[in-house]
Amino acid sequence: MAEHNSIAPIRLGVNVDHVATLRQARGTTYPDVVAAARAAVAAGADSITVHLREDRRHIQDADVEALTAIGELVVNLEMALTDEMIEIALSRQPRDACLVPERREELTTEGGLDVAGQLEAVTAALQRLHAAGINAALFIDPEAEQIDAAARAGAHHIELHTGAYADASDDADRETQRARIASAAEHAAAQGLEVHAGHGLTVDNVGPIAAIPAIVELNIGHALIADAVFVGLSEAVRAMRAAMDAGRRALD
Ligand code: PXP
Repeated sequence: MAEHNSIAPIRLGVNVDHVATLRQARGTTYPDVVAAARAAVAAGADSITVHLREDRRHIQDADVEALTAIGELVVNLEMALTDEMIEIALSRQPRDACLVPERREELTTEGGLDVAGQLEAVTAALQRLHAAGINAALFIDPEAEQIDAAARAGAHHIELHTGAYADASDDADRETQRARIASAAEHAAAQGLEVHAGHGLTVDNVGPIAAIPAIVELNIGHALIADAVFVGLSEAVRAMRAAMDAGRRALD
């Protein structure tokens, strides 16, 4: 039996971008992103993630302002590596920020940030965010080269991209991708990096990722908001928490 004490509990960050997607589809004032964030936390989320994209396709600057104005709310701001976004982070002071790659034509964040290929720029951005007291992270693919670069750049933590796992075509591929994430997480933790993960996770596929001991936080959005259409956001968050906790318990 594994030593339970040695396994960190797993946290859930709820990404509310697609509450804003629904609002922006009609240019209405509803559904309310702040109300969604409050409901998610009341149902068991540990933090709220928003991605302020350069094209403002879902989350707007006013959403970031409203969320970061709520003192007790832990906000994780996902952002591109641009001066504009860094200035916004510095002025709004979310507790966490995560640098992600961004391409205007993509539907979602398709891959991890190439930290190794732009080490100087990433290091400088992390320094500016850290100097303001923001825990700055990097969203990267589960590859040793990127993890090593993230450690060198001075990231507070990393978030491993789980998209290839979520999109696996069959069980064998899914297991290959899970093992890749598990060994990347161990490699990062051995270098003192806190490890988060996310992208494409659902109530059905989250268990094996929650069962990776080195991962301490998952960020989940699209599938949660999709489930909320049928069961409501609170129940969707509770079901995701239960699936994560069941996966974690498999370590006992
Ligand atoms: N983590 C990061 C860095 C992301 O960019 C996204 C998508 O915005 C997520 C997690 C959540 O992914 P999903 O919406 O597929 O759950």
